[in-house]
Amino acid sequence: MSLLDELETLRAEAAAGLKAAADPAGLEAWRIKYIGTKGLLKAWMKRMGEVPKEDKPAFGQRMNALKDELTAAFEQAQAGTAAARPAAKASFDVTEPLPAGQRHEFGRRHPLTRTTEQLRDTLRALGFEVVEGPEVEDERHNFDDLNIPADHPSRDNWDTFFIAKDALLRSQTSTVQIRVMEQRSRTPPIRVIAPGRVYRPDTIDATHASTFHQVEGLYVDRNVSMADLKGTLQLMVEGLFGEGTRVRFRPSFFPFTEPSAEMDCSCPACAGEGCNVCKGIGWVELGGCGMVDPAVFEAVNRARGDNAYDPEVWSGFAFGFGIERLCMRRHGISDLRLFLENDLRFLRQT
Ligand code: DAH
Repeated sequence: MSLLDELETLRAEAAAGLKAAADPAGLEAWRIKYIGTKGLLKAWMKRMGEVPKEDKPAFGQRMNALKDELTAAFEQAQAGTAAARPAAKASFDVTEPLPAGQRHEFGRRHPLTRTTEQLRDTLRALGFEVVEGPEVEDERHNFDDLNIPADHPSRDNWDTFFIAKDALLRSQTSTVQIRVMEQRSRTPPIRVIAPGRVYRPDTIDATHASTFHQVEGLYVDRNVSMADLKGTLQLMVEGLFGEGTRVRFRPSFFPFTEPSAEMDCSCPACAGEGCNVCKGIGWVELGGCGMVDPAVFEAVNRARGDNAYDPEVWSGFAFGFGIERLCMRRHGISDLRLFLENDLRFLRQT
């Protein structure tokens, strides 16, 4: 058999092999065998020496043509297997009914999202605007301007993740009070709520997590009083837990409010009768609130370089609630960890 005849046999084998290669792995094996750097074609090139001088040009041309042919055939086959997959998907008929007993899955909004939306709707009706602030903060916004000076023992109430010398993950959404008031494009009156994520290096258990959500509220106007605060929160709580839910304030302390209060509502599980959720008390704790401390207005004025929040003219209230806690009270959820696990059995219930 002449060399050219042998070459023809190789060509036929290669073509048959390529046809038989059904998947990407088979194609790759073919490529290595025939056109790879250590493949048969390369080995053939080396046989040029055996070819009589006068046949060399014809043999060389034949080799080159074969190489081009096999490379092109390989590329075509490769494109074919890649195209085959989406084509199979595209043939799925979306109008076909599901087999008996199976149902289509629909997505739902996360319970925390729904609680936040409920809060937003009630407060929006009272003229509050939803705003956001950064989750990576500096000490001034998380502490100093909220009247929590360095070395003051009350800082310990907010264990905080520091990520650099003056960069931390905010431990409370009260930061957004400062962020909003120091915007020079705004002047009082101010009515905002700021829902968002906060971070604390807590040990995780049924009521603690290293990240959770809060909603902050701030209202600044002339003659704002504790009665305005209580009326606003009364409406918010009725929106969340239903009409007839009662609220009560207990004296408390927060550096950025004076006076400060802790707010409770009548237990949504037993309507105040006393049950295991409220430990027989009939009330459950929801969060903190109070009248904006004049020291906060002064810090904001310093940052702005004006007297836009003159404490002699303006007063305000603020509040801050944990959204997980509100949502737990709303749906009778007893373990905070459920919010972080994304277990579909939990998420599907709401
Ligand atoms: N930022 C407080 C906390 O994380 C909650 C809070 C209390 C916010 C009283 C307020 C407030 O706006 O007035 O514990």
